[in-house]
Amino acid sequence: MEPVIEVRHLVKAFHTNRVLNDISFNLDRGMNMAILGKSGVGKSVLAKCIVRLIDPDEGEIRVLGKDMLALDAIQLDEVRKRIGYIFQGGALYDSMTVQENLEFQVRRTREEMNKADLQDLVEEALANVGLLQAIHKMPAELSGGMKKRVAVARTLIFKPEIIVYDEPTTGLDPVTAGEISELILDVQKKYNTSSLIISHDMKCVKMTANHLKIITNGSFYTAGTWADLCESQDPEIWGYFH
Ligand SMILES: Nc1ncnc2c1ncn2[C@@H]1O[C@H](COP(=O)(O)OP(=O)(O)OP(=O)(O)O)[C@@H](O)[C@H]1O
Ligand SMILES: [Mg+2]
Repeated sequence: MEPVIEVRHLVKAFHTNRVLNDISFNLDRGMNMAILGKSGVGKSVLAKCIVRLIDPDEGEIRVLGKDMLALDAIQLDEVRKRIGYIFQGGALYDSMTVQENLEFQVRRTREEMNKADLQDLVEEALANVGLLQAIHKMPAELSGGMKKRVAVARTLIFKPEIIVYDEPTTGLDPVTAGEISELILDVQKKYNTSSLIISHDMKCVKMTANHLKIITNGSFYTAGTWADLCESQDPEIWGYFH
């Protein structure tokens, strides 16, 4: 199986706080992996290292075969078109409309594109998350679930091969959280994306992931399918499923 993300011996500390301590894994093409772990354990730091928003102290990261730590800014933009990242919290620009937020994603990566093509791309991405009617709204006018959808739409603009979702359903009511989980599933099927899903929402994990990993003390404690881990009597694992 072809790996789309390869992480080897990743280490990241902030001063004396050694957050990630020897993390290694592969995400194979077509795999949808959930990363679980207590709050503050370093899940978001791991996601940010993978897309190189944070530089690790040690280790190797390859995304789609590219050595992420060796790329210059232009090469990094090219890879970032192929790996979408949904931030914890959505991270839309408050002063821009939904349309402008999506267009900015294209311009940020130095893409040359005429206005009509850009409009088509933005409309297609919004239609795919069922939010075409919100194209002219400001982020403040959107509910939490709508913001998450816009964040997914913004990522879909480049039809990425991989999407990293950091807490895609956190802060949403259970019904909206279920809708976002379905959206993740739809995106996986429609675009054939591989995904890394960081979540505390076990319903979302069960729906969207075919492989689970649990981080404790800076490295992976265990891994397996939902069925494997669900039956475990280990107290470190049991709490997630019961
Ligand atoms: N830029 C930073 N500077 C200093 N410390 C940081 C920075 N980013 C994260 N940390 C620290 O790294 C640790 C892990 O943070 P991280 O955000 O990855 O946790 P998490 O597992 O995503 O938690 P949650 O489930 O609450 O989102 C925390 O102790 C946090 O304070
Ligand atoms: Mg986090």
